[in-house]
Amino acid sequence: MAALPIVRTVADLRAQVAAWRREGLRVGLVPTMGALHEGHLSLVRLAQARTDRVVASLFVNPTQFAPSEDFDAYPRDEARDAALLAGAGCALLFAPTVAEMYAPSASTTVSVSGVSESMDGAARPSHFAGVATVVTKLLNQCAPDVAVFGEKDFQQLAVIRRLVRDLDLPVEIVGAPIVRAEDGLALSSRNAYLSAADRPVATRLNRVLTAALARLRAGDPVETVEREAVADLLAAGFARVDYVEARTPDTLDRLGPGPSEGPIRLLAAAFLGRTRLIDNVGD
Ligand code: PAF
Repeated sequence: MAALPIVRTVADLRAQVAAWRREGLRVGLVPTMGALHEGHLSLVRLAQARTDRVVASLFVNPTQFAPSEDFDAYPRDEARDAALLAGAGCALLFAPTVAEMYAPSASTTVSVSGVSESMDGAARPSHFAGVATVVTKLLNQCAPDVAVFGEKDFQQLAVIRRLVRDLDLPVEIVGAPIVRAEDGLALSSRNAYLSAADRPVATRLNRVLTAALARLRAGDPVETVEREAVADLLAAGFARVDYVEARTPDTLDRLGPGPSEGPIRLLAAAFLGRTRLIDNVGD
């Protein structure tokens, strides 16, 4: 298999995309922070099905990590990631340095109010501004027809859809279904941090959420179901639960207290040791 071409500057990325455009080709973008797994490769395949050439970006974005978080420890292996992307049919890897992405005097931040403020936004106050800023930059740099993001980061996807709409960015945002291991655990780069003892506990996250969603569907009161799901996670061995919340899928509004007729997304974040896992289920 031919090695995947890698560009490290915005100018080189734009030159390649412009050459494809002159040939009348459609371009897809899959933004990543590397440490790739089957979930990421499913995004590449989805982008491939909708476009002629897929660009993946690999950038561990410092502005979306708080000082106490795992930016330095975040797993990095560009050669492995590039080989996986080539195997999945990706046409180009954009792997900029921090200096290429952020001028020392950079002073513009994209912040999306409302949809980014609860749940992960409340637990990680500067996170979504970092994500929104870097995703806006990547979309401007690559100017793809389509960009694909995983539904595992369901709130992130809602934030990105909102900023694309609000800023009139000419790109179609596609959400890709969560890819799970056989035991139900949602694939995540951070699963690499889990110990052998953590792993069976981690799988309970999806089971607790699935059972809680069934209760909501059966008409049990939202607050009771959320509260009992938190208790179930703690009983299963999670050290701390940031949230379990039932929301409307598009706007991430809270559900009313009574039985819900419309679509529901149930989202959660919980800690196993220092590892923070997120997951969501819905219909
Ligand atoms: O989901 C991720 O991996 C990151 O948040 C993203 C979208 C690549 C932005 O850094």
